Amino acid sequence: MATSYKDLGLVNTREMFAKAVKGGYAIPAFNFNTMEQMQAIVMAAVETKSPVIMQVSKGARNYANGTILRNLAKGAVEYAKELGCANPQIVLHLDHGDSFELCKDCIDNGFSSVMIDGSALPYEENIALTKKVVEYAHKFDVTVEAELGVLAGVEDEVCAAESHYTKPEEVVDFATRTGCDSLAISIGTSHGAHKFTPEQCTLVNGVLVPPPLAFDVLHEIEKKLPGFPIVLHGSSSVPQDEVKTINQYGGKLEAAIGIPEEQLREASKSAVCKINIDSDSRLAMTAAIRKYMAENPSHFDPRQYLKPARENMKKMYIHKIVNVLGSNDKL
Ligand code: G3H
Ligand code: 13P
Ligand code: ZN
Repeated sequence: MATSYKDLGLVNTREMFAKAVKGGYAIPAFNFNTMEQMQAIVMAAVETKSPVIMQVSKGARNYANGTILRNLAKGAVEYAKELGCANPQIVLHLDHGDSFELCKDCIDNGFSSVMIDGSALPYEENIALTKKVVEYAHKFDVTVEAELGVLAGVEDEVCAAESHYTKPEEVVDFATRTGCDSLAISIGTSHGAHKFTPEQCTLVNGVLVPPPLAFDVLHEIEKKLPGFPIVLHGSSSVPQDEVKTINQYGGKLEAAIGIPEEQLREASKSAVCKINIDSDSRLAMTAAIRKYMAENPSHFDPRQYLKPARENMKKMYIHKIVNVLGSNDKL
């Protein structure tokens, strides 16, 4: 028996993207794999009165089980209400769907939004696959994110050595022929905690500053597709205080460099209306756990170290919402 996202109290992205593009802010899209991440996301969204996209990758489904994650998202809506939010705006989104079958399975099982990532395919094949997913998804009022251009680094199980910026001359044809609801583009972001090598960066006041995102490409795309929702993947900023904590307490993260938050702030004011953040949550969780473990070597109850981990993630989510994306006070 199919489960509609509407029965779970979830919403699709259509209305929230329209408002975000008009209002010059971006909706946070936070990946989650565990109950603690879900709780931290909901607490942050409720406290800041922000709409939120909770996204599940194929890897997350393999780790936690799709049914469990869907029910966590259902719980998220009820939990948000319990925390005092009368009208939570929560999307359950499939991140980097790589086949029609996976997208269909999510659409049939409570997801309100899916991404079909055909970015590694030849252009016409990306169009054909995306169109097939859109036709199925729209029958159920599920929204679809597509991708054009290639990000460097790991995209779930897809790995690209270098990025290829999205070609602005292709976006109108792609969006029109596929009917997708939003488009992920490549302008210099990439996945993971090692987005740039130190050699690619400039040393400014002791801080490694990476090369700027290709805002010219973004603005050209905006001109070609006025008001169309644009998505940025790979948008963790890799906070250096978390990296430092991890290394201080036994970790070994070398040359971890992310996207400067000022650039994400600037992007949020444009047609970019969804910003994907996963690695920063992993860093916040790991830093808190490493610190707790080092300072409390005799403790072994997972609740003791998962509590500060959850608090640290919540703090990070609130910071992104309020100080970077500007999606607070929008409910
Ligand atoms: O885009 C990649 C996301 O960070 C998901 O990562 O496939 O390891 O869950 P994952
Ligand atoms: P980060 O690795 O920069 O957090 O990117 C996450 C992402 O794009 C998920 O799709
Ligand atoms: Zn991604």
